Amino acid sequence: MNIAVFASGRGSNFESILKAIESGFIPAQIRLLVSNKSSAGAIEIARAHGIPAIHISQKMFQNDSEYARALLDTLNNYRIEFIALAGYLKKIPDEVIKQYKNRIVNIHPALLPAFGGPGMYGHHVHEAVLASGVKVTGATVHLVDEQYDHGPILLQKTVPVYTNDTPDTLAERVLKVEHEIYPLAIKAFAEGRVKIEGNKAWIVI
Ligand code: GRF
Repeated sequence: MNIAVFASGRGSNFESILKAIESGFIPAQIRLLVSNKSSAGAIEIARAHGIPAIHISQKMFQNDSEYARALLDTLNNYRIEFIALAGYLKKIPDEVIKQYKNRIVNIHPALLPAFGGPGMYGHHVHEAVLASGVKVTGATVHLVDEQYDHGPILLQKTVPVYTNDTPDTLAERVLKVEHEIYPLAIKAFAEGRVKIEGNKAWIVI
């Protein structure tokens, strides 16, 4: 399975997937890293591992359909079969979602459908979790559809919320489980063990 990872930031999830591939845990290859930010740490990680890194931003194009076309051409050139969003802060054009239906996943730092949707990214998520008073949070891997944080949920893992947590301490605890469950979900895809029916997705053990 040829994977493209899309990342806008530091890239720790990208790195956890890479490690799982390099150790043989996931039978797949990351052929491409796409970033909308030329300064993203994920680009450095890609270079260090000899993975082509491409900077594509909507701003480089006259309109949305040119942008979508450029993304699709790039994905075709690298024979990409599967896309993993790992801290990618831009919306994926609908044309790309259509072309890669049920083959795009995302990791979200909360238990969807709670604490998701537009504006719910990074520290905003953990601030909202703390403000709500919930006692558990966690991470979610889900399929990507046309709406933010909305597609079928594939895998989740919880962590406790403590009374003395700050957004940073909570983010750190959640990030650890992100690094556990994202490789597991991608491994299941690579091994053909993911079933999707309507709005339900699950992993066959
Ligand atoms: C993670 O918390 C992920 O859940 C969210 O963005 C963050 C990315 O972190 N979608 P990193 O760039 O993978 O370190």
